[in-house]
Amino acid sequence: MHVYCDGISYQEIFELIRLFFPQDTMEQCYDKALVDHQSFLCVEYEEKTKMLTMELNGEKETVKPEEHPDIAFKNQVKKQIYRFLHNKTGISLPWGILTGVRPVKIVTDYLLKGKTVEEMDRLLTEEYLIEKKKALLALYIGQKELAFLTKEHLDKISLYIGIPFCPSVCSYCSFGSIPLQGKEELLKAYFIKLLEEIKIVGSFFQKLGKQVDTIYVGGGTPSVLSSEQIEKMFQYLDSYFLTENVSEITFEGGRPETLDKDKLMTLSSVGVNRLSINPQTMNNKTLKRVGRFHTAEEIENAYIAARNIGFEAINMDLILGLPGETLKDIKNTLKRLEKLDPENITIHTLALKRGAKISEFYTDSQVIDSMMDYAIKKNMENGSMPYYLYRQKNMTGNLENIGFTKPGKEGVYNIEIMEEKQTIIALGSGGISKIVFPDTGRIERVANYKDVYLYTNQFDKLMEKKLSAFNAFYAE
Ligand SMILES: C[S@@+](CC[C@H](N)C(=O)[O-])C[C@H]1O[C@@H](n2cnc3c(N)ncnc32)[C@H](O)[C@@H]1O
Ligand code: SF4
Repeated sequence: MHVYCDGISYQEIFELIRLFFPQDTMEQCYDKALVDHQSFLCVEYEEKTKMLTMELNGEKETVKPEEHPDIAFKNQVKKQIYRFLHNKTGISLPWGILTGVRPVKIVTDYLLKGKTVEEMDRLLTEEYLIEKKKALLALYIGQKELAFLTKEHLDKISLYIGIPFCPSVCSYCSFGSIPLQGKEELLKAYFIKLLEEIKIVGSFFQKLGKQVDTIYVGGGTPSVLSSEQIEKMFQYLDSYFLTENVSEITFEGGRPETLDKDKLMTLSSVGVNRLSINPQTMNNKTLKRVGRFHTAEEIENAYIAARNIGFEAINMDLILGLPGETLKDIKNTLKRLEKLDPENITIHTLALKRGAKISEFYTDSQVIDSMMDYAIKKNMENGSMPYYLYRQKNMTGNLENIGFTKPGKEGVYNIEIMEEKQTIIALGSGGISKIVFPDTGRIERVANYKDVYLYTNQFDKLMEKKLSAFNAFYAE
């Protein structure tokens, strides 16, 4: 699909347009003279007349986007583009004109500004064109999240620690994690630098008197670390950050083969109170197919061992739309999880990212939709309610990822990272720290190198830059 824009930024609208042409590659065209009306979309906005003209394959429509006191003008333009493309293609998008990662953030922002639930409902369905059931979901989650957006949380910081190594790389995953085999020395070198970063960055925030609210150790699969390494890492965290009142420490156990009894005991002894043990599916055939070298039974055993040790909350990640899976497989997976009864279940819909090895697998959007509807219904029947939600690019069925929780067991870090209202400091390669200025909501990002080699080799330079950015922001 070639797109020609005038009077409007291509960057603002191409994500939305792309969703109507999922099989096409998108290309911006700069010269209208080249438009041959074949596989061409023109979007032109004339400031003087305030008219928007859209033309697809020779069929033209001109409209005047309304002005709305609560909606940015670019969103009014998107609404017109959505309507035009919906009429031409017959495609409806569950999240309407929203293409970003955080649809619920719009809800909480409006609620904090004093909008009522009824006003929000109308804005979401009539202005953002969100499907009614998704609007209700976002509204429900947004209202629940408000309890975690209090001054008590927002005055503190949270920490993310990244361990981008895995026992093997799953075929669907494009997190860019490194398979551990043959890279043991790299992990050791990386770990030494990570400890140094905890010391350097921790000392900075300790001096500022910033208390730590939550800690999330993710990846990758951080449970590839040895018990000794885990103990060392938490000694550093406790020495250099103000961690005495930490309310939540999440650790991605991920793969059950990395969780023996000794490791689970270590995790509990260092204060981890929320552990992820992720099946993705309880179907052994699929696990093998996607390159996860564990069985559903190993998941159950790791879960029971963790339960016996007494973790306060266990989360289990699932993915809808894994290759070859049908609604029957999802029903079976949820049935087996129902017996385990974890505090949190996170339901992802498969996102086909560039570079992922299974882009040839595709599940029909109606099938994915029915899987998600079933998962929502089943979790709610089991007493778990949705508490956070996010979207990724290229999600099958254009759906979302939803975290479910038993009452009072919310993963607070997940809410804070999605809401971007609390400062979150990220340590390790690929980590992006976000400093939030509470009075204005301004967010400043400070990124670490994504590449593990660069992070390890260029560490001193990186820390110099990171500290000078932090110093500048906190001097303001
Ligand atoms: C960063 S991964 C870490 C989890 C851990 N290493 C594991 O595999 O159990 C976090 C979660 O993202 C989800 N995920 C990974 N790749 C995905 C994809 N392509 N689409 C949707 N969800 C995905 C999985 O559910 C995974 O558990
Ligand atoms: S899903 Fe988890 S274990 Fe698999 S490659 Fe991604 S981060 Fe690693």
